[in-house]
Amino acid sequence: MKSLVYINDHKQQFLDELFALLRIPSVSADSKFKDEVRNAASFLKEKLEKAGADTVEIIETAGHPIVYGEKIIDSNLPTILVYGHYDVQPADPYELWDSPPFEPVIKNEKIYARGACDDKGQMYMHIKAFEAMVASDELSCNVKFMIEGEEEVGSENLEAFVKENKTRLKSDVILISDTGIISNETPSITVGLRGLSYVEVELIGPNRDLHSGMYGGAVDNPINVLCDMIAKLKDENGKITIPGFYDKVEVLSDHQRAEMAKAPFSLEKYKSDLALGDVFGEKGYSTIERTGIRPTLDVNGIWGGYTGEGAKTVLPSKASAKISMRLVPNQDSTEITKLFEDYFKKIAPSSVSVKVMPHHGGEAAVVSTESIGYKAAEKAMSESFGKIPIPTREGGSIPIVALFQKELELDSILLGFGLDEDAIHSPNESYGLFNYYKGIETIALYHKHFAELSK
Ligand code: BES
Ligand code: MN
Ligand code: MN
Repeated sequence: MKSLVYINDHKQQFLDELFALLRIPSVSADSKFKDEVRNAASFLKEKLEKAGADTVEIIETAGHPIVYGEKIIDSNLPTILVYGHYDVQPADPYELWDSPPFEPVIKNEKIYARGACDDKGQMYMHIKAFEAMVASDELSCNVKFMIEGEEEVGSENLEAFVKENKTRLKSDVILISDTGIISNETPSITVGLRGLSYVEVELIGPNRDLHSGMYGGAVDNPINVLCDMIAKLKDENGKITIPGFYDKVEVLSDHQRAEMAKAPFSLEKYKSDLALGDVFGEKGYSTIERTGIRPTLDVNGIWGGYTGEGAKTVLPSKASAKISMRLVPNQDSTEITKLFEDYFKKIAPSSVSVKVMPHHGGEAAVVSTESIGYKAAEKAMSESFGKIPIPTREGGSIPIVALFQKELELDSILLGFGLDEDAIHSPNESYGLFNYYKGIETIALYHKHFAELSK
């Protein structure tokens, strides 16, 4: 395939361009970076045009813009819709980075920067694979690109765009690189993602902060109460205690679980990579199952009272926490949020009042391994990695995947190349050079195989 030669000949250019994209701090959550988010969109528009897309638009939304581009070569050929996101998570806490998050560097064959893996590095592979195929006159499918700037804040405006643009988005498969593989020696294809219900809670006790000596012991402390209530949400076996929480959870057969257990996994390595004394999770399930097929609940942040230097004796008026629940197929995020709210209010003592504020959510998704889209991915990876990839279910969420299933009636092929060690959302996020180039090659092969299998 000539495209593979092109990729090999343009490695440095492909890397320089990714570096330029990584230098743009397109943090969608923080309004201070609003202009930078737009700069990233403009950057992509220009690169898509240069790569050979015929029409590229920056589409305004109520939030950050969507970059949409396409190249339709022949209406008789299959169409691949590529989805990715150019926004990134906040880089905080900056002091934990070994080099500045928006000044990419290479160390130990890896690119270090916020967004290196999630998702700029992975999304940009598609634009470069496309460039290689166009330049080599090997484009075998029509291609549509939809790259959004709000994935990390819940994709709400993209949801509206998808609902209103079903004809424009009509395609035969959706291709996304925003997930991971087991390792570079054990390639895998993600076939399941968890859903998400995310709430912020606030407890209010006395109408003002109090002297903890004058009032301590006589007035309930909202932080103490919050800790107590959070502790009640899970039992000692790691089961969530919210009534009805598990009612709709998809139950996997013993056969399916046995298949999942075949994927190589070392608990010792997992523990040592994370410097853990031990793992913890729902009793009766393996670590892979705990993230892949079981729901969970976690506090993501908790605050209240005095956290500055020194000691201030205060009995705070308020306490807050941000709580996420990762969901599995058949659980409905709206329903789960409601179950949480009802239970959380029920277990609150009358010494505090409770507010529950829902944030964005999304549904879990599972995709078929029987489709042409999946088979093409299997072939492409087998060719580029020299090994047949294993289907896996991952714990993260890409809510738009379930929405694509519902609105466009299409499965997404989750052809990701990230590794656990890439530390997405964490300080010192990275992406391997091997993975960047291997990803570009695999995507080019995907287009070829998808066209052939579609015949
Ligand atoms: N790319 C991730 C999702 C992901 C990570 C899938 C690892 C599989 C493995 C995505 O950018 C992300 O971070 N999603 C958010 C959800 C969103 C609604 C904020 C998440 O999972 O927290
Ligand atoms: Mn992502
Ligand atoms: Mn992310």
